[in-house]
Amino acid sequence: MTVAAPARFTGRTALLTAAASGIGAATARRLAAEGASVLVTDVDAEGAHRVAEEIRAAGGRAQDQCLDVTAPSQWTAAVTAAESWTGRLDVLHLNAGQNVHGAAHELDDATWHHQLRLCLDAVFYGVRAAVPLLRTARGAVVITSSVHAVVGFKGFPAYAAAKGGIDALVRQLAVEYGGQIRFNAVLPGAVATALWTEVPDEYKALVASRTPVGRLGAPEDIAAAVAFLASEDASFVTGQNLLVDGGRSISSQE
Ligand SMILES: NC(=O)c1ccc[n+]([C@@H]2O[C@H](COP(=O)([O-])OP(=O)(O)OC[C@H]3O[C@@H](n4cnc5c(N)ncnc54)[C@H](O)[C@@H]3O)[C@@H](O)[C@H]2O)c1
Repeated sequence: MTVAAPARFTGRTALLTAAASGIGAATARRLAAEGASVLVTDVDAEGAHRVAEEIRAAGGRAQDQCLDVTAPSQWTAAVTAAESWTGRLDVLHLNAGQNVHGAAHELDDATWHHQLRLCLDAVFYGVRAAVPLLRTARGAVVITSSVHAVVGFKGFPAYAAAKGGIDALVRQLAVEYGGQIRFNAVLPGAVATALWTEVPDEYKALVASRTPVGRLGAPEDIAAAVAFLASEDASFVTGQNLLVDGGRSISSQE
């Protein structure tokens, strides 16, 4: 019997989007700590560079690349960068997203389409670009969705529609590429990242009180779930939408 935790990603390469901050950065650190070579991407090139430097300084393997997930041509460049670096791609973490507030009657076309492009179209662009390498590696894709995919909150119709689309897409992709690539999503509840910096403390306390575990999530809580789904520990798990929300979605309180 061995007591040490295995490095589940030794010899594997992971490409992560929106990894300059929050959940993406925490996941990059987690996968690198477990042995992965991580390609840290973000539309914020400086931020991606900072995270990659930090991982290297801690003894991990990381490179960075500027990637706006809504631009298909940049996807081709990012996947090519992963291939040029290590010759393979085992894990794709599709994490980009931001929520836009506004009831349906308040949203203009541009806002609606931007939300779907960032949270849903970008998933399609990333999968399309990465499938050939992922197939060869018999890899895994993990998408960051949201509790908004399964619970209605006032003021977020576009975000809910985009994240809800991921719910069905994950199943479709898992069936389509079954036996070659696994596809799963994590659905975070409230997680204390930059998305929450402007939120008043009283509201954060209210959300925590309505969350059965009694606190907001940390980016590392979500990173741990992504690492599980991306690893061989989840080799029999595909097409699933895993809520990682401290029980928020099963609580009766709005
Ligand atoms: N924080 C939460 O409470 C929460 C809850 C549920 C779901 N999520 C989801 O988690 C994911 C990550 O959110 P976070 O809380 O870590 O956010 P964050 O604000 O900490 O980080 C978001 C990152 O996305 C990058 N980004 C924005 N537009 C981009 C684009 N077009 N291409 C590439 N990168 C882009 C930003 O530069 C930033 O680094 C998102 O999909 C979000 O919808 C977050």
